[in-house]
Amino acid sequence: MENMNVEYDTLIPNNVNLSNDKKVLKALERWHPGYINWWHDLGPNGFQKSLVYLRTAISVDREGWAKFDYVKMPEYRWGILLAPKKENRIIPCGEHLGELAWQEIPGEYRSMLRRLIVIQGDTEPASIEQQRHLGKTAPSLYDMRNLFQVNVEEGRHLWAMVYLLQKYFGSDGREEANELLRRQSGSEDSPRMLGAFNETTPDWLSFFMFTSFTDRDGKMQLEALAQSGFDPLSRTCRFMLTEEAHHMFVGENGVRRVIKKTCEEMLKAGITDPYEISKIRDLGVIDLPTIQKKINLHFSLSLDLFGSEVSTNAANAFTAGIKGRFWETKLKDDHKLVNDTYPILEMENNKIVKKKAPALLALNMRLRDDYVKDSSVGVKRWNRTIKSFKIDFETKLPFEGFNRKIGTFADTNINPDGQVISAISWKKNINEYLPSDEDNNYIISLMKPVHEVGKFASWIAPPDEGIDNKQGDFEYVKIHEA
Ligand SMILES: [Fe+2]
Ligand SMILES: [Fe+2]
Repeated sequence: MENMNVEYDTLIPNNVNLSNDKKVLKALERWHPGYINWWHDLGPNGFQKSLVYLRTAISVDREGWAKFDYVKMPEYRWGILLAPKKENRIIPCGEHLGELAWQEIPGEYRSMLRRLIVIQGDTEPASIEQQRHLGKTAPSLYDMRNLFQVNVEEGRHLWAMVYLLQKYFGSDGREEANELLRRQSGSEDSPRMLGAFNETTPDWLSFFMFTSFTDRDGKMQLEALAQSGFDPLSRTCRFMLTEEAHHMFVGENGVRRVIKKTCEEMLKAGITDPYEISKIRDLGVIDLPTIQKKINLHFSLSLDLFGSEVSTNAANAFTAGIKGRFWETKLKDDHKLVNDTYPILEMENNKIVKKKAPALLALNMRLRDDYVKDSSVGVKRWNRTIKSFKIDFETKLPFEGFNRKIGTFADTNINPDGQVISAISWKKNINEYLPSDEDNNYIISLMKPVHEVGKFASWIAPPDEGIDNKQGDFEYVKIHEA
């Protein structure tokens, strides 16, 4: 039986027995100062001396895996935690189906694995960089705490990926680990690897949309990598998923609280028409049509993260057994997909046509479909809130071909309802589809910090429940500006 206790007395907390793995420990200790410098330079702007009521993972048991306490962010114990090893785990898909999962990297898959790990790793610090100014405009201490919780955990996810690179990829891995701290979200010379991670997150509605939609893409990728035949990667991702659930909650619930506050204020003011934009904005809340435009934007940006609908890379990774499908082991088919097909949409002569693609080539599409299903659960919840106020409005996910930059729909003008339209019509209506400068400026004008215990900004409702069962007057962040 392997020792799964978390070592907290070492510089780098871990449950992989680093004290007996001197070489990797040394490599990580050498990487550590660069990480801390990066955190200070590009992590949260300000609040580094504040005491934040954070959750820290202390064990990998399902029950009682985390404890809550006040921590200064730079003293948060970033560490390497892998979910417990499943004895005799087998490779769940591809040509090695049924073989014992690999504990070391098979030579022929080394570069493919390295690329997958680096791409995943790159998103973790990227999101922290994107969100670094948000602390300054937090609508409450509760929200500020949630932001910082997400940030420190994304930092830990970076540690987890860097561990894999340092342990299994030798000097290449070391170099990649350094590159992860060198690339920068939005940088001209060395941007982050994926488009959505170079966008700015200028306001809190954007943050909630990001954690709802873009973090959820991360969740789907982690689910697929959790199926990897390379067991250390699977275990890393499985543990990251336990933390990720909170990020989805922050996003989905954040959007819901914004919607709720808008509806409450409309009701109080006797406004029933959600399109009375200026009257609604006079109430200091965000009108529902603008929220819908934010959904259109963030959902479409996130769909691009799944890559092309038809992809040989995706097929190769699956066949190699290094990336599975969402909940691969629960699917009832041959897990090889050599002769199967999968329905996809494709642009042909400026028309959207349904087609059957080889299932192996359509794996990105399939993961994206699973993502859309997962996202629509949140949308249902938002609509339940609107309905409870008897306001005639429904939020919805735009058509998957809307506003796309990657894949079959790139360079085509399709409206949120899924109709192919002319470039002229697109231009004319763009401010109905996506947030206009005016919308964005209005949202930004609302971003005034609220630091009083138990108080919330005008545009967002308090949560139904506190973190760690705390009451409404709990001081989630003890602020020391710095
Ligand atoms: Fe993450
Ligand atoms: Fe996340």
